[in-house]
Amino acid sequence: MLAAPKLRLITLSENTAKWLWLWGEWGLSILVEADGFKLLFDTGLGSSTVHNADALGVDLTAVDKIALSHGHVDHTGGLREVLERMRLTVGRSNFLTKRRREEIEIIAHPEVWGPKFINHPGDPGYDFRGIPFRKVELEERQGARFVESREPVWITDDIVWSGEIPMLNDYEKIVDTCYLKEGEGKYVDGDAKFIPDPINDDAAIYIKTELGLVIVLGCAHHGTINTIHHAQKITGMDEVHMIVGGTHLVKASDYQMESTISELKKIGVHKVGVSHCTGLESSVKLAIGLGMDVFFFNNAGNVITLR
Ligand SMILES: [Fe+2]
Ligand SMILES: [Fe+2]
Repeated sequence: MLAAPKLRLITLSENTAKWLWLWGEWGLSILVEADGFKLLFDTGLGSSTVHNADALGVDLTAVDKIALSHGHVDHTGGLREVLERMRLTVGRSNFLTKRRREEIEIIAHPEVWGPKFINHPGDPGYDFRGIPFRKVELEERQGARFVESREPVWITDDIVWSGEIPMLNDYEKIVDTCYLKEGEGKYVDGDAKFIPDPINDDAAIYIKTELGLVIVLGCAHHGTINTIHHAQKITGMDEVHMIVGGTHLVKASDYQMESTISELKKIGVHKVGVSHCTGLESSVKLAIGLGMDVFFFNNAGNVITLR
């Protein structure tokens, strides 16, 4: 189990930024540093992850692995740029020794590659929201090596990527705006068929520490509480110290908000750091419901060190 001071979480990309020299960009990317191991969880939407890493003095070439929370573009659009940067490993003596990393491992669910689209009520059509790169291109040009799994993947003795998260309660539901496209028709004029996306690829990171579990959420499409219970099950730890990241409470009903707050209290989560798809209104409700000794905002530039 990880000693508390050996864990650091640095949010590299989020909808909002903590400092004026950082970029806010809709999406999420969080660097997990645990006892010398560096895992990048998601890569943000565009250039903000690399820009903010540079501005914060975070060396992306030292990142060991990447893990993805799901295939939506706001978590994967920065992939190519991040990989390009991670491969620029410069030798100690001078630029002549500059060499490229052969490959970079990326842990993800096989359905991250699904034809993911979005449609809000009243939208005239469906817009693509999946990974904006071809897998073969990332593998051949950027050195990506995808490790695809539906089951949990242990990354170190203390860090596990969740795999599929079962949906077990009656108040956490998949949003009704996410679709998968079936067939080859033109999606703009309704020739193609769109079916609701179960977002089976939704995943999180669980870290075992001496203070309890630290859970890093991407978008929590399968529900924050479902994600916590899954973490407890696969790690065998009941104590939850912190959850941090996107909770997808942005359009939560009163019933979902009340149930979530009451379950977070029942579990006894010490700290709740919300980002991204939590939404401002739901953030306020969580802050009031949980109290400011538990609640905090987690945006780009935020550095969390456990004590
Ligand atoms: Fe998402
Ligand atoms: Fe998202």
